Formats: sequence, C-alpha cells, structure tokens
Amino acid sequence: MDQDSAKQAVGRRAAELVKDGMRVGLGTGSTVRWTVLALGERKPDVVCVATSRQTEELASGAGLRLVSPDEAGALDVAIDGADEIDPGWNLVKGGGGALTREKVVAQMAARFVVVADESKLVTELGGFGLPLEVLPFAPGVVSDRVLALGATTVTRREAASDNGNLLLDAAFGRIPDPAALAARLAGIPGLVEHGLFLADCVSDVLVAGESGVRELVR
Ligand code: 5RP
Repeated sequence: MDQDSAKQAVGRRAAELVKDGMRVGLGTGSTVRWTVLALGERKPDVVCVATSRQTEELASGAGLRLVSPDEAGALDVAIDGADEIDPGWNLVKGGGGALTREKVVAQMAARFVVVADESKLVTELGGFGLPLEVLPFAPGVVSDRVLALGATTVTRREAASDNGNLLLDAAFGRIPDPAALAARLAGIPGLVEHGLFLADCVSDVLVAGESGVRELVR
C-alpha cells in the first residue's frame, strides 16, 4: 500500500467510529481529509467542530453541519492526524499549522483518535521539528527562549496561522522527555502553543501500512 492509500484507508476507518448523535472534532491534514470525505458520503446525524479553515471548507462542502467550539461545549470524539508518534503515544503535530485549534479540540473530546500512516511512527520525537504558534509581537524574543531550551534553529514559516499568529519550527533533533519540554515551552510568554501533544490526551492510535489498518496497543 502506498502512503496515499494508507492515509485513505486509515482516515476512512476512523469515520466508522462516528455514530448518530455525536459531537465530532475534525482535525486537519491529508489523512483526516479522508475521514471528512467519508462522513460527507455517509452523512450521519452529527455536529462537527473544525480545527482549521481548510477543514471547515472541506467539511461544509461535504455537507457536514459545523458549529463553533463554544456551541459544541464538549465533543464525543475528535479525529486528527500526527507528524510523529512515539511508542508511548506522545505526538508532534502542527505540520499543517493548525496546532492551537487542534489542541483545543483534542482536549474537548472524550475520545481523541489519532490516524496516521506508518511513516509517522518514530522511536523518539524530534526528527520532524517542532511547530510553534507565536504572537507577532516579539518572535525574536520567543525564538531566543526556545533556543535556550536546546533548539539548534528556529525558522519562521511564510504563512500565518488561522489565528493571525506566526508559525515557527524549532529543531530540537531529539526530544527524549516530551513532558518536560512541553512544560518549559508552556512557560514562555508570547508562545501561544507548541506542537507537543502528550500521551495523556490520546485515546486511540490507528495506523495503516502494508498489512492494512491496525489499532496500536499502548
Ligand atoms: C496539522 C497537523 C496534521 O494532523 C499533521 O501535519 C499530519 O498531517 P497529514 O495527515 O497530512 O500527514 O498536525 O496541523
């Protein structure tokens, strides 16, 4: 199975978890795109919260009913992709720049389901880089603090986030203790959000590869 087929298979499989009456969080990216399309084909009686403008457009084009996070209040399930998944189910997310809304939605959900092709499984986080959303007010100050935590470079993306903030990528190389780094990043004023999603918010991980779709056991 090639990578695109794997993304399609796992994205579609996750859509089967969505039942009538649910409030559903929709992530962002090329894997969860298939979840949204599958839901659009089946049209269960659900309300959805999107994690980006891109997903909002896709979901409304597919005929799904969208509400704001505040209108939904809480979610039964949220389904999203990941850029890296370590053996303990800590994640790096934000490759698509939607990390802040994705984290809000993941933490609103009783069940947070991660969907990915097998290339996202890593022995240790860090190789992908760490996406950061930063206030435009003082990106240099924030970058210096991130460098002081051990990043070797911090680069700025061209595109702004859907929230009008800057998107940066920090290269840590290796992140041996994701929880410790997450706590230190959370203490940097002006850093709106970082792309470390700790394992305690993850309920299920579905991955697809040569042998089809499988559910990881923690
Ligand atoms: C977007 C994300 C995505 O979930 C992540 O980048 C994975 O994307 P894809 O499914 O396209 O590989 O975090 O901000």
